[in-house]
Amino acid sequence: MQEHFDLDKILINFPSSQGTSNFTIRDAVEGVQIFGGIGSGKSSGSGRLFACKYLAAGFGGLVHTAKADEKNAWIEYCKENNRLNDLIIIEPGGPHAFNFLEYESGNRIGDISITENIVQVLKTVIRASEEKSGGKSDDPFWETALDMLIFNTLDLCQLAYGKASVEQLYNIVMTAPKKDTNPIEKENDKNSFSFVFDKAYKNVKQEIDLLNERLSADELSKCRDDDDYYNQVLAEKAPSSKLFESIHQFFFENYKNLSEKTRSIIEFSFSGFLFRLLKDPVYSLFCSKASTVVPEDCFTGKILLINLPVKLYHKVGRDIQVMFKYIWQRAMEKRDIAMNGRPVFLYADESQHFIHEYDAEYQATARSSRIATVYISQNIPNYHANMGGANSEYKVKSFLGTLGTKIFHANADIETNKYASDLIGEAYMEDVHRSRQIGGDFSKGESVSYKLEKIIRPEEFPGMLTGGPGNNYEVEGYVHRQGKTFIDGSVFRKIIFRQKTP
Ligand SMILES: Nc1ncnc2c1ncn2[C@@H]1O[C@H](COP(=O)(O)OP(=O)(O)OP(=O)(O)O)[C@@H](O)[C@H]1O
Ligand SMILES: [Mg+2]
Repeated sequence: MQEHFDLDKILINFPSSQGTSNFTIRDAVEGVQIFGGIGSGKSSGSGRLFACKYLAAGFGGLVHTAKADEKNAWIEYCKENNRLNDLIIIEPGGPHAFNFLEYESGNRIGDISITENIVQVLKTVIRASEEKSGGKSDDPFWETALDMLIFNTLDLCQLAYGKASVEQLYNIVMTAPKKDTNPIEKENDKNSFSFVFDKAYKNVKQEIDLLNERLSADELSKCRDDDDYYNQVLAEKAPSSKLFESIHQFFFENYKNLSEKTRSIIEFSFSGFLFRLLKDPVYSLFCSKASTVVPEDCFTGKILLINLPVKLYHKVGRDIQVMFKYIWQRAMEKRDIAMNGRPVFLYADESQHFIHEYDAEYQATARSSRIATVYISQNIPNYHANMGGANSEYKVKSFLGTLGTKIFHANADIETNKYASDLIGEAYMEDVHRSRQIGGDFSKGESVSYKLEKIIRPEEFPGMLTGGPGNNYEVEGYVHRQGKTFIDGSVFRKIIFRQKTP
């Protein structure tokens, strides 16, 4: 029997001077964003609280890692909440693997082809990676050219072998025809583009020969006389011939004739990413072995942790986690909530590393897919730097707008503090004027007027408690809840998070 999860189940009672305020599963699936300067208590204060409450409530989830100590922190959280049996760690030397190409090939979404499915995954990761390095992801020319290269490489692989592997994709991209390719060199290279291309050609030819055998004498003669008719028959009964034609056109006309500079930029975007995948430990964990774990395991309460912390594995650690996240998000969105309503969490400390271009879109539907996001980052400029491109201001603001609860810890970042202060809003404050005249006519007056002012001024954020023994393990944070009020009717409150349970 399916476990029932009531959206009104209370997960946290935020204490405040006026009593408590409830944070329910419904609030959890509207998303949480935590900001705070270095050492302000994000991870050990509020982050830990949400992690433990979600574990205690039986959520499944995906945990990203940026720092090396996060795996141990999660083992502790799981122990404390009796969930250690549900924790699956994907890590070098561990028993688990996830083969993304195999998974995506068997996981068609709606009507879209396997190629389209895989292209979406690859281009999202490559673009996220380029955005982070201030690349060209906003330029429609590069985007389209890169998409076309990924598309045609994958289709060629599918036509030749019926499936794609990272090695084949890499070999095709590295040996695709160039303007001045030496034909002898090509002949000697059996792993090269021409080898795969010949194999695809043979498969397509075989399909056409079979079709010709099956056509009646009348149909055959009509095909010979009427090119349009023959093309129509081919399109209907041997669709790979059309695909092969367009692959041929792409590699031998469009791609081959690109200027060297343009071509090398596109080629490096794709091959650079594939190259990173081909190296261990990522290759063994995500490309070569059969999957022992899939995103859907979260529906039965599994907690998947990818232990390839960005601080240790750098670009490839980030790429692979963004890729897993994107595949995971799509899998979570496909779920039928009526059949399985278990909430799942997406937990990312140092979340700026794991952002991609569709995040705002996914976040907007996370509530209905019961995805409880917890993103933790130092400040808003972190997001600008990683959600790069021309519209970063708009992208970041709209993304933050999709997260229902925001927590602001001690911070010295002016932009984040100003954002927090603006979000909390303004109120009419008493403005007392005192006047005193000393002279002939002695008079002393006091008049009260009201002035619209920030309820919490940006200058108040740097001084909050940041935990540790000196602060009695107390971490302060302003909690702002969109459309939800605390007991006194306001949408924000200063809360104390404890690093240690007393
Ligand atoms: N379990 C703990 N018990 C007591 N103090 C702790 C604990 N964990 C961290 N601290 C201390 O509390 C403070 C806040 O630490 P924490 O790691 O939560 O900050 P953070 O906001 O996540 O910082 P960063 O941006 O560096 O990740 C630090 O001074 C840290 O040394
Ligand atoms: Mg931290």
